[in-house]
Amino acid sequence: MTRIRKAVFPVAGLGTRFLPATKSVPKEMLPLLDRPLIQYAVDEARAAGIEEFIFITSAGKSALEDYFDTAAALEMRLERAGKTEALAALGRTRMPAGTLSFIRQDRPKGLGHAVSLARRLVGDEPFAVLLPDDVIRAPRPALAQMVDAYEHNRGHMVATMTVPRAKTASYGVLDVLSENGRIAKVRGLVEKPDPGKAPSAKAVIGRYILEPSIFDKLDMITPGSGGELQLTDAINADLSTAGVSGYRFSGERFDCGSIQGLIQATVAFGLDRPDLCEEFDKFVHQRFFPWRSIA
Ligand code: UTP
Repeated sequence: MTRIRKAVFPVAGLGTRFLPATKSVPKEMLPLLDRPLIQYAVDEARAAGIEEFIFITSAGKSALEDYFDTAAALEMRLERAGKTEALAALGRTRMPAGTLSFIRQDRPKGLGHAVSLARRLVGDEPFAVLLPDDVIRAPRPALAQMVDAYEHNRGHMVATMTVPRAKTASYGVLDVLSENGRIAKVRGLVEKPDPGKAPSAKAVIGRYILEPSIFDKLDMITPGSGGELQLTDAINADLSTAGVSGYRFSGERFDCGSIQGLIQATVAFGLDRPDLCEEFDKFVHQRFFPWRSIA
């Protein structure tokens, strides 16, 4: 059994869809309720048994590194003030010493380039990649579902979900060979195809389990869609050797890299939270169904 112990978090993108906020705040630090997006991704990775967390960062992302630091002075003040709940919330951000690494991407040359920079730290073992803008609300965390499935399906694995055909140009899309339950064997991946040319409506979502052979391919690829080095192209290049499958995860995905997605996630996660849901539910009902009275 090969355990997936390491995860790469590419967080070096520009986050232009959230400008001007992302002028000084990394996109991954935007809050969904009271936690930044990066915390959701790290929690999901921990739940899947990940022990080493490799962040690919860039200039202007120091808030992200600081976030995982111990805030000794703040903790002391909270302790003195008896603010136990706030202390517990801080505790959840603490990671065991030596488990976090940060690598700088000099320029945003694409997701493929970002992942390639983790080569030395990942070494010769399969690893996970999580894009923190994709937040997945699931009974069992999505990466844990994939790690289980990987035990019986070696090779590169990408998370997938069906999207409206009109939206295929926003995603990597699977060209499916065969399907068995949640697993689709893949003939190839197409990056951002026009709806008319898309081989399916099964889109790649930001969770991957990759074989270490991906690094050789990442070194070989040339700029693809959008002039960027695409992870999709490297996966395609390794298709005949390593094999690729799509895993249809159980859960609901929110694209929190977009304003629309972050709003929707806020509603969904807000209604899930026992301490928030009652008042929030009342607000939503009064706003959208004013003719229905709520006691
Ligand atoms: P996006 O396509 O969402 O790009 O990247 P972006 O720059 O983050 O955001 P927009 O589109 O300008 O609003 C997908 C993921 O790949 C990472 C991003 O940080 C994000 O997690 N990425 C992208 C890198 O780490 N480096 C890159 O060069 C490009």
